[in-house]
Amino acid sequence: MAERVRVLLLFGGRSAEHDVSRVSAVSVARALDPSRYDVVPVAITKDGHWLLAGEARAALQGARDALPAAFEVEGLPVAEIPDPGTRALVPLEGAAPPAHDMTFDVVLPLLHGPYGEDGTVQGLFELAGVPYVGSGVVGSAVAMDKVMMKRAFKAEGLPMPRWLAFRDGHDRDALVRDVEASFGYPCFVKPSNLGSSVGVSRAADATELRAALHLALSFDEWALVEEAIVGREIEVGILGDDPPEASVPGEIVPGDSFYSYADKYEDDAARLLAPAPLDPAHAEAVRELAIRAFNACRCEAMARVDFFLEENGRGFLVNEVNTIPGFTTISMYPRLWQESGVSFSHLLDRLIALAIARHERRERRAGRQRDG
Ligand SMILES: Nc1ncnc2c1ncn2[C@@H]1O[C@H](COP(=O)(O)OP(=O)(O)O)[C@@H](O)[C@H]1O
Ligand SMILES: [Mg+2]
Repeated sequence: MAERVRVLLLFGGRSAEHDVSRVSAVSVARALDPSRYDVVPVAITKDGHWLLAGEARAALQGARDALPAAFEVEGLPVAEIPDPGTRALVPLEGAAPPAHDMTFDVVLPLLHGPYGEDGTVQGLFELAGVPYVGSGVVGSAVAMDKVMMKRAFKAEGLPMPRWLAFRDGHDRDALVRDVEASFGYPCFVKPSNLGSSVGVSRAADATELRAALHLALSFDEWALVEEAIVGREIEVGILGDDPPEASVPGEIVPGDSFYSYADKYEDDAARLLAPAPLDPAHAEAVRELAIRAFNACRCEAMARVDFFLEENGRGFLVNEVNTIPGFTTISMYPRLWQESGVSFSHLLDRLIALAIARHERRERRAGRQRDG
């Protein structure tokens, strides 16, 4: 890449992880090599409005290591339109001041959860014909929906906790009976399509199971019930997709009874160990499983794959794949790559190059189709 690349850094978003995304965006802006990239910061508000982030732009003019802790969500209202001829943002209110260069070459979406990590925004980029970092529509959607993800893992024959899917409006008594017949208590209940532990609870008996289900179904029409695993929490980073490479494994040592939202983002209670204290054979086994889980969901370019390690039991059980992992300086994904010999800046170079290469592959294929 000889020319400078304009990176649309998309952050904020309509999920519970809005705030962590703003922190990730600052870490990424600091790590992007200023001799190669221009950053076009775009914030998505909690209501879903897109803003060419004014404060973030101003901050980026100065020294990158002096950036704030989190970017503000404010600026000029803009839209990214699904027109393959326009690789630029469009101002929504009047003409953009001439000082604002609204063009970009590639999108780096740092959005977590629904409307960001679930294939919806990836679909917009597909329609607009712009390269973007990370999984495409299918991989994003499958990995965001826990029930679909379990089905993909099952098809691949991956070891995982026993689980049952439930759709709102169906027979809850029958579900309680099925849970008791299949794995019993304690169990975990989760909305199918959220992240960051929102709506996740642990149930110790039928009464708690019903309450947990009620909570999960207030977030999504589908819920997942899963046996509670007693074990360590191990995570692996994936980079690239042909073939995918696995990082060294890391370990989360939760501060709470489970790895809750507060643990993840609020009180720093969880400890991250990178690399995880595992013997070489176990480390190798979990890296292979991570690649299989990533491929099973048809993910692309990056993901963090999370496991339970049931020692003296079934060994590694895959929990989930996250297609847009956290990118703060203390986040597991960049740390695991750092430990694997890939610096934060180089990781971003690789991800951007993968996005551009995928786009070029698709353009060539579309061209061949047209030329018949
Ligand atoms: N089956 C389970 N057994 C034990 N702990 C679990 C189980 N499922 C989830 N947890 C705990 O809850 C946390 C959040 O669940 P997870 O499935 O990872 O949802 P999210 O997508 O919100 O991160 C996990 O990191 C883990 O600490
Ligand atoms: Mg998780």
